[in-house]
Amino acid sequence: METITKAHSLKGTVVIPGDKSISHRAIMFGSIANGTTHITNFLPGADCLSTISCFKQMGIHIEQDGASVVVEGKGMDGLKEPSQLLDVGNSGTTFRLMMGLLAGRPFHSVLAGDESIAKRPMNRVTVPLTQMGAIIDGREQGTFAPISIRGGNLKGITYESPVASAQVKSGILLAGLQAEGETTVSETHRSRNHTENMLESFGVKVKREGLSVSVEGGQQLTATNVEVPGDISSAAFFLVAGAIVPDSTITLLNVGINETRSGIIDVLQQMGADLSIKNRRVVNQEEVADLTISTSNLTNTSIEGDIIPRLIDELPIIALLATQAKGKTVIRNAEELKVKETNRIDAVVDALQSLGASITGTPDGMVIEGPTPLHGGRVSSLGDHRIGMMLAVAGCITDGAVELELPEAIKVSYPDFFEHLKQLQAGS
Ligand code: S3P
Repeated sequence: METITKAHSLKGTVVIPGDKSISHRAIMFGSIANGTTHITNFLPGADCLSTISCFKQMGIHIEQDGASVVVEGKGMDGLKEPSQLLDVGNSGTTFRLMMGLLAGRPFHSVLAGDESIAKRPMNRVTVPLTQMGAIIDGREQGTFAPISIRGGNLKGITYESPVASAQVKSGILLAGLQAEGETTVSETHRSRNHTENMLESFGVKVKREGLSVSVEGGQQLTATNVEVPGDISSAAFFLVAGAIVPDSTITLLNVGINETRSGIIDVLQQMGADLSIKNRRVVNQEEVADLTISTSNLTNTSIEGDIIPRLIDELPIIALLATQAKGKTVIRNAEELKVKETNRIDAVVDALQSLGASITGTPDGMVIEGPTPLHGGRVSSLGDHRIGMMLAVAGCITDGAVELELPEAIKVSYPDFFEHLKQLQAGS
């Protein structure tokens, strides 16, 4: 249990830890590349540590010391058949990207994870990989973990993904690299493009045309060094905290602002937040900047369509932001929230209602009326890191303490979160 009390102000500078999506990919691509990959600013969160342990089980030598990692890649054919089940913990990204990778390997493997993973739909990856020729099974006809894979002998496909999901797109592209001929994935809306960017850094030719991405099978990866930018999905919690806590100014250093991830910046600007973006630069094909936010007079907005994949992980904290904005904020087309680490529509609505917010769930989003003063109470992360951090930020503005159950879930993506929050409360 963690108790969070009202903050009189939040002031200071935080160096945002490494991006979770990019850290996973750096381990995976480093493992299947030829040569040694050095990773800096790696996120040592529980999810990315699960990815490391899966690749170690397949015979890859990986040395991790905090945010520095050295991966001794052995090439695509260097992975060996794991003798035990591969446990991804809470990590959907590890699960779905590895499904694609393992679908091309001429051996048998079984992927499993925690209770949350067991409820998440894996058929969105099973279906295209089976079309490519992999033999995949799991509970309910390959829908749920544990999932077993006998890979090899893949043929390239052209696949129109019904969901805008980078995990699906990346899983198919990783299988495509091991397939005969070309593999193309197209989406309805553009999802995050870190796989495409990083594959290019590892020397792979990637064809991008509109909403489609293609790779030719048989390409090898060449090791490279990866400097991971800070995670905008972690920065989001302090961006919102800075905007809603009185008398605050927070600077967040080294934040990845890749256009496919930066919807939270657009939303803050639309709502009238006092936000500045400085020191823009590009590191390993990823745009990075320093962000400063101060207490803001916020107005409502509507969030739907193309922007949804650009801020899907930020919607819980955006819901809290909207409780402090004047007017009715409507979030639509976000049904994907129901199949995240928890059903995030239900989790956000239930928790914020219990703290006094005016918020209702809809089949594909939420409607929030503001501004509403919030009160304290006992709430739970439900084991979902982003619900936990949203509630901790809520505790900074509630009259009365927020008592947060299962705060340890936050270690999945931001192990130093409470330390950084306390530094800002202390004004350092
Ligand atoms: C991720 C993609 C997104 C996101 C997740 C990380 C990735 O999931 O929600 O936190 O690293 O590819 P979907 O692909 O299911 O949208």
